[in-house]
Amino acid sequence: MIILGIETSCDETAVAVLHGTKRKRTLLSHVIASQIATHRQYGGVVPEVAAREHILNIIPCLDRALKQAHIAPQALSAIAVTAGPGLVTSLRVGVQTAKTLSLAWEKRLVAVNHIEGHLYANWHDSTVIKFPALCLIVSGGHTELVLVTQHGNHTLIGRTRDDAAGEAFDKVAKILNIGYPGGPKIQQLARKGNPAAFDLPRPMLNRQGYDFSFSGLKTAVLYLIKNAYRGKNIPTNDVCASFQQAVIDVLVGKTVRAAMEVGARSVLLAGGVAANAPLREQLRSAVGNIGASGLPFHTPPIELCTDNAGMIAITGYYRALRKRYSAWNTLDAYPNWELV
Ligand code: KG4
Ligand code: ZN
Repeated sequence: MIILGIETSCDETAVAVLHGTKRKRTLLSHVIASQIATHRQYGGVVPEVAAREHILNIIPCLDRALKQAHIAPQALSAIAVTAGPGLVTSLRVGVQTAKTLSLAWEKRLVAVNHIEGHLYANWHDSTVIKFPALCLIVSGGHTELVLVTQHGNHTLIGRTRDDAAGEAFDKVAKILNIGYPGGPKIQQLARKGNPAAFDLPRPMLNRQGYDFSFSGLKTAVLYLIKNAYRGKNIPTNDVCASFQQAVIDVLVGKTVRAAMEVGARSVLLAGGVAANAPLREQLRSAVGNIGASGLPFHTPPIELCTDNAGMIAITGYYRALRKRYSAWNTLDAYPNWELV
């Protein structure tokens, strides 16, 4: 099958073309028009501005994706599009584009959940992933532990009760005034800092269950800076390193315990925060030490962790296999669509 993927849920306009078979998924192209530079001046995503940029970018991205893949519209098997969750005005641009193309080109339409997309980035090649697979999904809006027993069958076993992990990175970066988006900046500065410099809390780490909470950790950083430094001579690198390590300790600790308790046969990591190198390394190493011989650990290449349309095309491929099509005249954007 050849699937066109379209993603416009937040601030990246993205289009991809996937060749999918049961044995192997191959991305023939994946194009991203990032709006980070536009939103940086506001310190975050401005929904109206994002929607307008999507309108400008979507057709050029589509043209480039088809051209790079050397695929004519007639060769497509289906069109997959992110229908939620996300910013409604942003989602609508992708959904309307996909609906129009579906009608004009007479192609089937597949609605994809953005969070399921992050999860499915792990199926980007020919690697065989053993079920049940436990996936830690960490993005700007979500922090979830999802147990996948087979394709299309997910159970939510834990989630954040307040801020998402990526949101905590972004908010701490704002407190430190080091720019947007916060995750990559904190990772970069943390490299030169000492992760043991400050004794920050590890919220919920030793509590039963698999829920997370990150807003207290963010507040702890805020008070550290207010009380100890009064905004002056802040050892930014050490604060970044200590904060990043606190987040990683919680994510790794909870995921490893969940994997053991639910009897997972593999562990996956996905979402924008999965681009964080120390998180990738420390989770890989901890998963490798589960039980007598360790569990297999998978995480997508970094460009498929942050928002992209490749992951939407891959999810679309697996949904199309199960004939989960949508009608072009009824599909809508669902800003609060929960995965499970
Ligand atoms: O999945 P994503 O691209 O968009 C959403 O669906 O939210 O995730 C974006 C989030 C942002 O909060 C960003 O700061 C974070 O992922 N992020 C990172 C890194 N790269 C992106 N967090 C930590 N370390 C990184 N290297
Ligand atoms: Zn995302």
